Amino acid sequence: MSVRITVAGSVNLDLVATAERLPSPGETVTGATLARHPGGKGGNQALAARRLGAEVALIARVGADAMAGEALALLRAEGVDLSACVADPDQPTGVALIAVDARGENQILVAPGANAAFAPDHLPTAIDGALICQLELPPETVARAMTAASGFVCVNLAPAREVPPEVLQRADLIVVNEGEAAFYGAKLHAAPGLVAVTWGAKGAGLYRGGVLLADAKPPKVDAVDTTGAGDTFVAALVIALLEGQSHADALAFACAAGALTATRAGAQPSLPNRAEVDRIGR
Ligand code: RIB
Repeated sequence: MSVRITVAGSVNLDLVATAERLPSPGETVTGATLARHPGGKGGNQALAARRLGAEVALIARVGADAMAGEALALLRAEGVDLSACVADPDQPTGVALIAVDARGENQILVAPGANAAFAPDHLPTAIDGALICQLELPPETVARAMTAASGFVCVNLAPAREVPPEVLQRADLIVVNEGEAAFYGAKLHAAPGLVAVTWGAKGAGLYRGGVLLADAKPPKVDAVDTTGAGDTFVAALVIALLEGQSHADALAFACAAGALTATRAGAQPSLPNRAEVDRIGR
């Protein structure tokens, strides 16, 4: 039976400029090519979970504009339940301006629009089953969603920002990259749940109470665009843990899913399906 997951999170339209190198502050780099892709950490994690075989519902807010349809297109086409995605009449759909260089590294600037206006009162009072959140919604909204959830709760503390204490306390699983881990410092490993720290191409570790439980390295791949790799890692790790995989196997599965995402351009178009991850992760 497939795992059921609710994602409460952001939806963005990603405007992606790919160039030989990223600009320094104040510098203009020309010669880029432009693409538009559905994105947002919430939308990406919802679609990643769906492609990895879960039944997924997304709680989100977009604008009442043309970008909303574009930003939700793949989620709708692939069977993510969007009945709790609401169009805010007063805000635009979130937009991410993404610059990608020839090595696949990126810089992202987000204009959050409707995501930033997602108030705690916009949430349902109860959320059944497993929940995944990130920090592209206001932290108070994330905290309310997490306390409304009855099942396993994962929070991806990205992008790093101050959060109410219940966010760290309620999480069964926290996922951070190295930069985010440094931002939260000792608070992270004082949390009662599992903590996964990703180290990019070097892999990831899974901790509880500061004790390393497992680590894993991703398969070697040629990175084209790392956008969405962290989101895939989050969705894959949650699914693998809910399936009852061991810590080591779950981490290896998540690393493989993240690595595959980096081999293709764009956030949502690059998210792998279950068969691909099972193949490369073996
Ligand atoms: O994690 C990648 C995502 O971050 C992009 O899709 C972009 O929308 C930003 O939210």
